[in-house]
Amino acid sequence: MNNFTFCNPTRLIFGKGTIARLADEIPADARIMMTYGGGSIRRNGVYDQVMAALRGRSVVEFGGIEPNPEYATLVRAIELARVEGVDFLLAVGGGSVIDGTKFIATGLKYEGDPWDFLVDPSRAVDAVPLATVLTLPATGSEMNNGAVVSRRERNEKLAFHNPKGYPVFSVLDPEVCYSLPGRQVVNGIVDSFAHTLEQYLTFDSQSMVMDRWAEGLLQTLVELGPKLVERHDRYDEVANFMLTATMALNGFIAMGVPQDWATHMIGHELTALHGLDHGVTLAIVYPGMMRVMRAEKFDKLVQYAERVWGATGTPEQKAEAAVAKTEEFFRGLGVKTRLSEHGIGEETIDFIVDRFRQRGWALGERRLVTPERVAEILRDRL
Ligand code: NZQ
Ligand code: ZN
Repeated sequence: MNNFTFCNPTRLIFGKGTIARLADEIPADARIMMTYGGGSIRRNGVYDQVMAALRGRSVVEFGGIEPNPEYATLVRAIELARVEGVDFLLAVGGGSVIDGTKFIATGLKYEGDPWDFLVDPSRAVDAVPLATVLTLPATGSEMNNGAVVSRRERNEKLAFHNPKGYPVFSVLDPEVCYSLPGRQVVNGIVDSFAHTLEQYLTFDSQSMVMDRWAEGLLQTLVELGPKLVERHDRYDEVANFMLTATMALNGFIAMGVPQDWATHMIGHELTALHGLDHGVTLAIVYPGMMRVMRAEKFDKLVQYAERVWGATGTPEQKAEAAVAKTEEFFRGLGVKTRLSEHGIGEETIDFIVDRFRQRGWALGERRLVTPERVAEILRDRL
C-alpha cells in the first residue's frame, strides 16, 4: 500500500431540511457573498430557503455563474467582493458554482492575475473561507479542494487545487435534487462513476479496503443508475446517490492507491473545444482508455469485471467484459459514448494531441498516457 496523509476538514451536514442550519454554521459577523448559477435556485425554492436562513445577516449576492464557470465572470465577482469587503463565501449550486466560488476565494487572497494559479496551481495557497449548499450530486466539489475553470476566448479549461480550498461545511439536502433535469442526473451518475474509476482502475497497490470501498460505490451507482433515470424524487435513492457522489471524490477512496485522471484531462479538452457537458466527455473517453491501456490496467480490469459486473470466463474475457459493460452501462443511462455521435472527428483529435505535446503532458498513474496514446484512445471513440 502507498504512503498517504488523509485529512478532510469539511463538515458534512446531510439530510432533509438542513438548509436552515446555515444560520448556526456561518460566523455571526461575517460579510457574506452568496454565489449561484443561472437561476435554478430561484425556481426550485432553494434561494428562498437560503435567504430565510440568512435573515438579518450581511449578504451580497453574485448570480450568473455559468456551467463550466467562466474566468471573466469570476474575475468580476472577485472585484465585487473586494469592493464589498466580503470575508465569507457561500456557494449555492452544482459543481460549477462551487468551483467558481473556490476560484473567487483563492483570487481574493492572490495579488496579480488569477489566471496565474490555473497555469501554475502551486501558486494557489490561500483562500477566503467558503461553504456550500449543494444542488447537484456529481463532482464531489462540496468536499474537496479542487476546481476547474474555463476561459472561452482561448478554448481552455484548467484545474487547480488549493490546500485551503476545502469548504468549511457543505449542506446536502437530497430534496433539492428533485428539480434537476434528467440530463444532469445522468451527468452526475457518470461523473461519480468516473471519479471512482480514476482512483481504482490503475494497478494493484494492495490497498484492499479502498478497493472494496470503490467497488461499493461503483455497485451502488450500477444499482441506482437506471432507477434514477426513471425518476429522481424518491428520497432514499437520491440520498444514496448524493452520498455516493461525495464519497467518490472527497479523498477517502484515494488512501493508499495510485491515481489516473487521464480520462478527465482529455475530457476537459472536449468541453473546452466543443462545449460538451463534463459527464458526457467521460462517457466517451473512459471505454477508450480501458481498451488502449488494457495491458497496463489488466489486473484491475479483471478484478473490476469480476467484482462489479460478476463476469466469468478467462482473464482475457473478463477484461473485455469490463470495457463492454462500462460502455453498455453509460449507454443504458441514455448518454452517447462516441465522438461521431457529437459530430466530432479527426481534426479535434489532432488539436488535442498537439496541445498535450506543447504542454509536455504524459498522463495516467504511470505517466504512460503520452500524446500518442491519447490519439489512439480518441480514435477508438470515433
Ligand atoms: O446554473 P443553474 O441555473 O443553477 O443550473 C444548473 C446548470 O445549468 C443546473 N442545476 C444545478 N442544480 C440544479 C439544477 N437545475 C435544477 N435543479 C437543481 N437542483 O444544472 C446545470 C449544470 O450544473 P453544473 O454545476 O455545471 O454541473 P456539475 O455539478 O456537473 O459541475 C460540472 C463542473 O464541475 C467540474 C466540471 O469540469 C464542470 O466544470 N468538476 C469539478 C470537480 C471538482 N471540483 O472536484 C471534479 C469534476 O471532475 C469536474 O471536473
Ligand atoms: Zn469529473
